[in-house]
Amino acid sequence: MTASLTLSPRATACGKVIVAGEHSVVYGYPALAAAIPSSLELTATRGPADEPVHLRIDAWDIDVALEPDTDHPVARAALEVFGYCDGPLRGWSIDGTTSLPSRAGLGSSAALTVALARLCLGQDAPLGAVVEASLAGERVFHGEPSGIDSEVAARGGLLRYVRGAEVEVIPLRHALSLVVVPSGKPRSTADQVAKVRTRHDRFPMVVRPVLDALGALVERSITAIEHNDLDHLGELFNIAHPLLASLDVSSWILDEMCDAARAAGARGAKLTGAGGGGCILCLPQDDPAPLFAALQARGHAPVRIDLEPSS
Ligand code: PMV
Repeated sequence: MTASLTLSPRATACGKVIVAGEHSVVYGYPALAAAIPSSLELTATRGPADEPVHLRIDAWDIDVALEPDTDHPVARAALEVFGYCDGPLRGWSIDGTTSLPSRAGLGSSAALTVALARLCLGQDAPLGAVVEASLAGERVFHGEPSGIDSEVAARGGLLRYVRGAEVEVIPLRHALSLVVVPSGKPRSTADQVAKVRTRHDRFPMVVRPVLDALGALVERSITAIEHNDLDHLGELFNIAHPLLASLDVSSWILDEMCDAARAAGARGAKLTGAGGGGCILCLPQDDPAPLFAALQARGHAPVRIDLEPSS
């Protein structure tokens, strides 16, 4: 890639929610993820020519200089992205605005690394290059991520993802409403992935069938979405949650939130993403108002995600 001393003035990227297949995707099974559209916007302006690039995102309490010897993970990840893209190291100030919570399993780090790559390469740069640049930064945060977050952050839409394979866009024939509920408890994806690895290595004959089931759930979920069979999709959410709990990635907060959502009429509820904390994902009834009211009465701040039919 040729060195560029300039940045685009603006870049955006999506957040994501994993609908099915988290954790099993690390072992080569498919996963299904939906984009949360235009979740992060970065703007770049000229700064002092001899000072390191500065990155500031108030919503995530990020205010860092991209100094080569930094040990700040966000600055290191940004430097990896800029290194991959041959971006400028001095003379720029980058500001971000976002509606995504960070460290909640909604793809905030991938949104950041994708948007940084687009500042260097252009908002309409080829997706493959943007995803590779994002992954260089994602490795700083997550060790060896499956790559699903970067793909969704860059592409948007609803995607079936298998590690190392071509991403499949799942066309939506009907609108699909989902509700994400943050638990407010941060967690580390790398730690959660390591917990599953430990359990897998200790009891491979027991854990493999769970991973098989989670993989099968992805295909059934896609069929349910294609047929707009929301009751089946909700039931699949309800099967996924205890399967994930058996891998040691749930918590009493997430279990309780899922129970509360179902009691309030959700068609289904499951943890989404790495688990431990982060968010749950609910499939609401056609009228989501009672679900929202019940969750808000418990002090939660549910967020509705509306996926539009593909054009
Ligand atoms: O970082 P999260 O919460 O979106 O989780 C990522 C999904 C995992 O399958 C748990 C890890 C991965 O790399 O795919």
